[in-house]
Amino acid sequence: METKGVTMQHVSRPKVIIGNWKMNKTVAETRSFVSGLGLNSVVRTFQVGLAVPYTMILTAAEAARGTAISIGAQNCSDHDEGAFTGEISCHMLKDAGASFVLVGHSERRQLFHETNALVNRKVKKSIAATLKPVVCIGETEEQHLSGKIENVLHDQILHSLKGLNPSEVEHLILAYEPIWAIGTGKTATPENIQFAHAYCRKVIASEWGKDTAEHTVILYGGSVKPENAAMILEQSDVDGLLVGGASLSLESFNKILNV
Ligand code: 13P
Repeated sequence: METKGVTMQHVSRPKVIIGNWKMNKTVAETRSFVSGLGLNSVVRTFQVGLAVPYTMILTAAEAARGTAISIGAQNCSDHDEGAFTGEISCHMLKDAGASFVLVGHSERRQLFHETNALVNRKVKKSIAATLKPVVCIGETEEQHLSGKIENVLHDQILHSLKGLNPSEVEHLILAYEPIWAIGTGKTATPENIQFAHAYCRKVIASEWGKDTAEHTVILYGGSVKPENAAMILEQSDVDGLLVGGASLSLESFNKILNV
């Protein structure tokens, strides 16, 4: 049996493609995108999700009803309820029709100063609300160039997932998104991506066990386009994609789903 990292051939993990719309789209655009995707997409090959703005969750979930498309949020509160003006709890997201939530996206970490400790609290809240967390990690360009990628990923995984049990880690999704590749058009090479994903799996194996690591879905994100999606998906430790810009157009997102 050939092994790469800790992945063995007999383990079959689901293939997942999630579009992250970030701060884009109106109600009308959401409705037409989701119904168009429901008609055309190849949900046979991939589990497909859309992480939409808070205000679009209900609309997107209604438009996705009867299809295999999952709707998710891009962030959540680390509190359940109360006087937290402007915040949205995991229970509220679930109630509006979300089934997953992005946690610790690099834009949240960088622009809104989210720490690993806050990400960890949000991950725990989402699990408690049965909302699947998609936990985002990744290094900056400077960390990448100075060879700190392993240290950064190690710290982010251990601290963001601190206190979770193996079954919880097995059922969440990890998304490796090198910050220097997000929205820049620079994609990490397939070899770099495979290296980082295999390393993430190794960290999970050492903390939560090999079996857990073999089952955890790890996505890649950062300038994914129809032209590079297939080559990234071919990497043995890549279980899918987290797509930003290219998920905004039905045409390019459909192309990615059909690679
Ligand atoms: P881009 O695909 O636009 O680089 O964005 C990646 C991302 O941040 C997905 O979460």
